[in-house]
Amino acid sequence: MPGVIEASDLTKIFGGITAVDHISFDVHEGEIFGFLGPNGAGKTTTTRMLTGIIPMDGGSVTIFGHNMGRDPVLAKQRFGIVPETSNAYVDLTAWQNLMLMAELYGLDRDRAAQRSLDLLETLGLSERRDQKVQGYSKGMKQRLILAMALLHEPELLFLDEPTSGLDVQSTRMILSMLRALNTDGTTIFLTTHNMEEANRLCDRVGIIREGRIVAIDAPEKLKAAIDRLHQIEVSFDGEIPAEELVSLDGITGAERRGDKWQITADNPDQAIRSLVSFSGRHGAAILFLHTLAPSLDDVFLRLTGEERP
Ligand SMILES: Nc1ncnc2c1ncn2[C@@H]1O[C@H](COP(=O)(O)OP(=O)(O)OP(=O)(O)O)[C@@H](O)[C@H]1O
Ligand SMILES: [Mg+2]
Repeated sequence: MPGVIEASDLTKIFGGITAVDHISFDVHEGEIFGFLGPNGAGKTTTTRMLTGIIPMDGGSVTIFGHNMGRDPVLAKQRFGIVPETSNAYVDLTAWQNLMLMAELYGLDRDRAAQRSLDLLETLGLSERRDQKVQGYSKGMKQRLILAMALLHEPELLFLDEPTSGLDVQSTRMILSMLRALNTDGTTIFLTTHNMEEANRLCDRVGIIREGRIVAIDAPEKLKAAIDRLHQIEVSFDGEIPAEELVSLDGITGAERRGDKWQITADNPDQAIRSLVSFSGRHGAAILFLHTLAPSLDDVFLRLTGEERP
């Protein structure tokens, strides 16, 4: 299956500094792809090159098979952008901003008006639609920008930190909108600093550090890859021959912690199977079992060099 986005050797140099350094990746149709990295890693620069806002200094990007360097117009009709800094005009109302967007995309006026009403309703802005954006809160502005990006019903949506600095309510509204769009088939390229958000939302994430991609995979696979040794906490309802625990398949260590055992596993899947059959053999039910896998935060910190193991 060809990628919706195919970036190859993408490069950007600002006055001698290589902000994006020959990165290559694909985003597949229908996925939510998270693009993560510390401040200054090159996320926004990459997003701007992908969407044709700034020219690339090397490499190529195709979106829906259209080469963004040579022939960006057709691709641009099919994607929407929620940029890092607001693209709404503050002297205009939400409604005027939406109608301006409709004109830019050459949309049918009636259809655009109906869709604007729906989007404003879904994003909780209906009552404020005739107020100038100047008077909007950050969260309201961000929801309007999302509505503007969605007006032409794009099949692909780019978002550069859409929930940064927003309260719980606006964040939830935006994330649930993204989930619903994705369920309906929209492919999503999402830049975020929020690991929990990326972990819950993304099919795959790419991690960028100093302009280079250091990992691309599903969040769970990245977590599994960084730590070979996982911790499992388990407690049994009844006596067990504790000395046997360390000799079970997949388990390399066992220490008592209060009423629980802290198990070190070199193969967590096998270790859990071993614990289940072990408890069965000794007629002791498992009361509690908890795996302490690394979080996406741990992956991020490890791979971006903020923390050395
Ligand atoms: N217009 C520009 N002129 C000069 N340097 C720039 C420009 N835009 C970005 N840079 C530099 O490129 C590098 C990458 O910046 P970019 O904004 O892409 O990072 P980012 O990953 O989006 O960071 P953040 O998480 O802070 O948004 C930084 O060193 C930045 O200073
Ligand atoms: Mg940025």
